[in-house]
Amino acid sequence: MPERIYGKRELELLEQVLMSGNLGALGGKFTPEFEEKFAKMTGTRYAVAMNSAMSVLHSSVICAVAGAGDEVICDPVFIFGAMAALYNNAIPKFADIDPASYAMDPGKLEEAITERTKAVIVTHPWGFPAQMDHIVEIAHRHSILVIEDCAHAILASYKDRYAGAWGDIGSFSFQASKQMSLGDGGIATTNSEEFAKQLDLNAGAPTFHSIGHGLHYNFRMNELTSAVGIAQLERLPDLIEGLKKNAKYYDEAVRGCKWLRPQIASGAVSTYHYWAATFEGEEFGISLDRFREAAKEAGFWSLNIGYTRMPAYKHPVIKERLAHAFLCGDHRDKIEYPDGLCPVAERIIPRMVLFYTLQPEEKAREEADKLRGLIRTLEE
Ligand SMILES: Cc1ncc(COP(=O)(O)O)c(C=O)c1O
Repeated sequence: MPERIYGKRELELLEQVLMSGNLGALGGKFTPEFEEKFAKMTGTRYAVAMNSAMSVLHSSVICAVAGAGDEVICDPVFIFGAMAALYNNAIPKFADIDPASYAMDPGKLEEAITERTKAVIVTHPWGFPAQMDHIVEIAHRHSILVIEDCAHAILASYKDRYAGAWGDIGSFSFQASKQMSLGDGGIATTNSEEFAKQLDLNAGAPTFHSIGHGLHYNFRMNELTSAVGIAQLERLPDLIEGLKKNAKYYDEAVRGCKWLRPQIASGAVSTYHYWAATFEGEEFGISLDRFREAAKEAGFWSLNIGYTRMPAYKHPVIKERLAHAFLCGDHRDKIEYPDGLCPVAERIIPRMVLFYTLQPEEKAREEADKLRGLIRTLEE
């Protein structure tokens, strides 16, 4: 462990779906059961299953009634929240991160709020939850919605509450690389009956009654995916324990190394989509290029250095305001995403050292040993 296991239990439930003759979500029993179990697991009242986390984020922006000319404060490391804002014609704004946890800095969130702000989408980077008590307090004081992007943080917790149970809406992903994978899929969590109903509409639940309800999407999760989801939830606690164990090998490998600083977040318990550290070698005479070269020679297979190497607002769709040209009319010319907008994110992203933790324990141990060797070589 940890390895992905799809076995007898999944096949048993899939067979039940197939034999029922009803594979779609409408009128099925597996999707409601998956939703109920997911809500219970995360300590929330409601969960609404969809076909991807992007669909959940999109629906959440709709719940925030953030449309053309409205602002949504987003994470500068990951582009997903900003894209969801653009799906609904809203304007993404960015609040810088904390350099140790990589999560949105609550002080920067407060600075970014204007009278046009409708929501904040806060990511729990690589599995470490953000400081949700501060974020919720600030956001609600300004009457803005808190959307938690929990794509990396299933069963992660902050101050003894699970990710997805802090904000107004939580968004989880079951895309292929995530801790729990259903091939694709997503789920929203919420404690609000009102949001649960709206999310359900956006997920396309009442297709046949949509004229009465207005315009919404078809983001439904089908019964086959939900059946596998139910089985995977049963396996999840063991998988998470394995990921935490693998992360410890990397923690141990960098112990005593002053220039690889593991991601930390006070009060947070990560479930490690990736184990992460910040490269600070220059202070010790090791350049980032040299580190990259040496890492390449060492032949890691689960290592990524620098993620996308740039903040979300430097991706063309945001920087060149490509989507605004179509969607936000005259707002396009008023939006600026200059270099240095989020200086901490700009500095930290290219220095992120990331190990994918979902691998057999033996492999994680080998990678961690290799990392220990690399540190020794570079310090000689
Ligand atoms: C932080 C984050 N949010 C959202 C998503 C989107 O998830 P999905 O592929 O399920 O739409 C991802 C996927 O990589 C992600 O990493």
